Amino acid sequence: MKVMAIVLAAGQGKRMKSKLYKVLHPVCGKPMVGHVLETVKEAACERTVVVVGHGAEAVQSYVGNEAEFVLQERQLGTGHAVQQAESLLGGEQGTTVILYGDTPLVTSGTIRALLELHERKKSAATVLTAVVPNPQGLGRIIRDESGLVQGIVEQKDCSEEQTAITEINTGMYCFDNAKLFDALKQVKNDNAQGEYYLTDVMGILKNAGETIEAYRASDFAEGIGVNDRVGLAEAEQLMRARIVRKHQIAGVTVIDPAATYIEADVVIGADTVIYPGTMLRGRTSIGEDCVIGPQADITDTTIGSGVTVKHSVTAEAVIGDESSVGPYAYMRPGSKIGARCKIGDFVELKNAELGDDTKVSHLSYVGDAKVGKDVNIGCGAITVNYDGYNKSITEIGDNAFVGSNVNLIAPVKVGDGAYVVAGSTITHDVPAGDLAIARERQVNKPAYADKLRARARARKDNAGKQ
Ligand code: UD1
Ligand code: CA
Repeated sequence: MKVMAIVLAAGQGKRMKSKLYKVLHPVCGKPMVGHVLETVKEAACERTVVVVGHGAEAVQSYVGNEAEFVLQERQLGTGHAVQQAESLLGGEQGTTVILYGDTPLVTSGTIRALLELHERKKSAATVLTAVVPNPQGLGRIIRDESGLVQGIVEQKDCSEEQTAITEINTGMYCFDNAKLFDALKQVKNDNAQGEYYLTDVMGILKNAGETIEAYRASDFAEGIGVNDRVGLAEAEQLMRARIVRKHQIAGVTVIDPAATYIEADVVIGADTVIYPGTMLRGRTSIGEDCVIGPQADITDTTIGSGVTVKHSVTAEAVIGDESSVGPYAYMRPGSKIGARCKIGDFVELKNAELGDDTKVSHLSYVGDAKVGKDVNIGCGAITVNYDGYNKSITEIGDNAFVGSNVNLIAPVKVGDGAYVVAGSTITHDVPAGDLAIARERQVNKPAYADKLRARARARKDNAGKQ
């Protein structure tokens, strides 16, 4: 059976009070509609149509080639929204799954179960329902005495008796594609909201003698639609717990799940331990046996195995096996360190490549640099990469030693095995194996310290008398 999907995403989302279109609000780092489309993909839908309206361009440019689009110019109801897809899917034979772009928590497992029931019962329509603690505002599932589904009634059209029903319509369904578009032609807008309700299709099919079914989701959270920022945070929390759990089951120790933020696409190897206060974002991937956190803010970073990162920030960086970063290090985009490197406290790297076994242990800035293997960069040494107009490159060869508080004024090269003594300001290349010293020679004035103090004291006493 050919399976297709329609994702409704034309509504404005007024209650978000946002410049950002609703379905583009991220949940665990990924726009809500992105989560829904991923679920659709996992459920093996062959064609996916996104119904866009408000913010159509922005949604289309985010979704790109992942789906086809139809425009719903005016939002006249969910039934009307689905009808817009007829131009693309009208001629298809098969099953059409309908979802909303603002229900990020639905899983492909649930969609597959919905499809399975739908096909087994040869139904014309199967709705995904949930029993919820607070059904306020949602469509209610109407069943007869024997439990068979009769239809869906919107809150605003409910009798008092129907209002008490706690089984609700999640807004997700499977339909026989041809029957769906046929029935939609009969949907009218003579209801409390003056909208064309998709839910009416259920009753229309039932009255035509078709089988309609309901599949009850075991976890009502899957049906949660985000309408405002409160709902957004709730969805975030539930999704976050789900993501952490997935990693735990795969062998990652998460010391405090409530204080750990892992975005949807992050990859983590087994036996890695995540300490509290850690945020792992974007396309971050972490190997095995790492210790991450406490307080690590890691974005789009590729981390090998056996790595330690604590109290540090990294973005678009690469960290080789068994390296250690932090505490209080900042690896900015383009930082790439090899295996067994050490990036210590208050070190900032930017667009800098470091070979294996290189150490930058304290208080350094290394920017726009290419540093070899087994290099030691002393405390407080910095690359001077910017003259106010241009960025210039510093190159440091293998086994070089850069002493404490050295300024390397780029563009400049320090050759393999060279030695730059502490406090030097290096403006010229240092050939391999050379020793560079670029500082004033020291002068000692015998017993001068006491003289200096006496003079200073006298000045203070004079000032006091005036
Ligand atoms: C709908 C269901 C209700 C269900 C609830 C679950 C109908 C008539 N009612 O409620 O039974 O319990 O979802 O959340 O279907 N949309 C469009 N175009 C439109 C209208 C809506 O694209 O013209 C989209 C919205 O962007 C949203 C989704 O459809 O993603 C649902 O719309 P919303 O207004 O939130 O649903 P309700 O009609 O309140
Ligand atoms: Ca809604």
